[in-house]
Amino acid sequence: MTTIKVRKNGPYRVIADGDGDDVTIIDWNGREYPAPDRPIALCRCGVSATKPFCDKSHARAGFTPDEDTDDAGGGPAAG
Ligand code: FES
Repeated sequence: MTTIKVRKNGPYRVIADGDGDDVTIIDWNGREYPAPDRPIALCRCGVSATKPFCDKSHARAGFTPDEDTDDAGGGPAAG
């Protein structure tokens, strides 16, 4: 099973079972990205220099998301 956790003021963290063959990251052109070390963190703030992956620039940028998953009905807020 793969779980995607929305980190508060941070990336989408992809937590997958298995040996690494269970997650494929593909952009809009069909280009496949090699999966980095686990856990995989996908940029949510738009600032990362290594998109689609998080490079922790969100902390320096003071990223706070516009959405609140509680208000959006998408589930509990990430912690
Ligand atoms: S979410 Fe970490 S750099 Fe964008």
